[in-house]
Amino acid sequence: MDKLSIQGGVRLAGETAISGAKNAALPLLCAALLTREPVTFSNVPRLNDIDTLLRLIAQMGVKVTRDGSTVTLDAAQLDNPLAPYEMVKTMRASILVLGPLVARCGEARVSLPGGCAIGARPVDQHIKGLQAMGAEIAVEHGYVHAVSRRLKGARLFTDMVTVTGTENLMMAACLADGETVIENAAREPEVADLAHCLIAMGADISGVGTDVIHIRGVERLHGATYRIMPDRIETGTYLCAIAASGGEGVLTGTVASTLDAVIEKLRDSGCDIVCSPDSIRIKAPARLNAVNVRTAPYPAFPTDMQAQFMALNAVAQGTAVIRETIFENRFMHAVELQRLGADIGIDGNTAVVKGVAQLQGATVMATDLRASASLVIAGLVAEGETVIERIYHLDRGYERLEDKLAALGAKVTRVA
Ligand code: UD1
Repeated sequence: MDKLSIQGGVRLAGETAISGAKNAALPLLCAALLTREPVTFSNVPRLNDIDTLLRLIAQMGVKVTRDGSTVTLDAAQLDNPLAPYEMVKTMRASILVLGPLVARCGEARVSLPGGCAIGARPVDQHIKGLQAMGAEIAVEHGYVHAVSRRLKGARLFTDMVTVTGTENLMMAACLADGETVIENAAREPEVADLAHCLIAMGADISGVGTDVIHIRGVERLHGATYRIMPDRIETGTYLCAIAASGGEGVLTGTVASTLDAVIEKLRDSGCDIVCSPDSIRIKAPARLNAVNVRTAPYPAFPTDMQAQFMALNAVAQGTAVIRETIFENRFMHAVELQRLGADIGIDGNTAVVKGVAQLQGATVMATDLRASASLVIAGLVAEGETVIERIYHLDRGYERLEDKLAALGAKVTRVA
């Protein structure tokens, strides 16, 4: 299993390019299931999660053509609307095929996400919404089995803001009979990106980017060509890495307005940030000030940046309070950061991080995607060598991580 070796203590400086957004690409690729005509996507990141989804879609009968960062999906022959456990278990986002499949094929059999049951890491809102649109749904033998001759438009209200839940229901509603209204919809930029692509495919959607989305169903959607938005979480991660190292740099091919909350926090920490239409320039002070963080749905501070800010606060001046309100068990990186010398106390969904002058390199274990990113940031500023094990988590969500960090001057090598 690959490891990452980082020689810490380098002040990062330089320029690096941001990839297409993983969390936009996943629902967008699923949207291609809604039409018989080919859909071409550009700016598709090369990531393990994307490979997993493309394999899943291909086994349904869809023709997948890939050329660098361009992917064309031709779902004319969608003859197997099944998402088997073996393929779904590695990626919860596979549930995103459910809405498109039932809308297009009238039937879908999709495994519940890996390690999950309805209740623990639920997809109950996805199911409730489809039921309200007339789908008959049975959860049996670990699979969601949904049947509907044609979905009917409905007024949907989700109990909490759910990103993939909103995306699943919006996709399904595009081919439903009549109008669907999704209230309490997620406003994440990735949801808006999906809506813009669906509109390019002939969907009738209004309220894009707001928490009330109206979708008037159409008979069929058609092919389109669509460029996937830049990855705001990858952008935020590199901004944190540069900031924590006291460095300066430019991130290109990104859109600053999708990460206002993160940029504001970095400014509060003492960084000088200049945003251009498609790039962000950052210059960090020698030592950052601690910044409090509370995660919440967009446009508030994203849970996917919480771990990176814990690493940044670990070496900042002062004490920071970090509150996680989206996921219950999302502090697994804290114990690994402690192994590097961080001073972190956890009480429920609150972490108190007292900045220390210096972290020390050690061997640590990546536990999930964003937790891994926080360990990379900590390793970059720690004294000596940090070895991160289980970096397959990073490969799920960060394209060419070592190359991009090397472009900023970091000393990072992958060890097989
Ligand atoms: C998406 C992102 C993930 C991000 C998260 C929150 C993708 C592929 N993943 O995940 O990176 O961390 O949004 O911004 O876009 N919930 C339920 N029932 C449901 C659905 C959700 O109880 O049916 C709960 C979840 O357990 C969680 C909260 O709602 O506590 C938000 O989850 P959700 O927005 O659905 O996360 P994902 O869409 O899975």
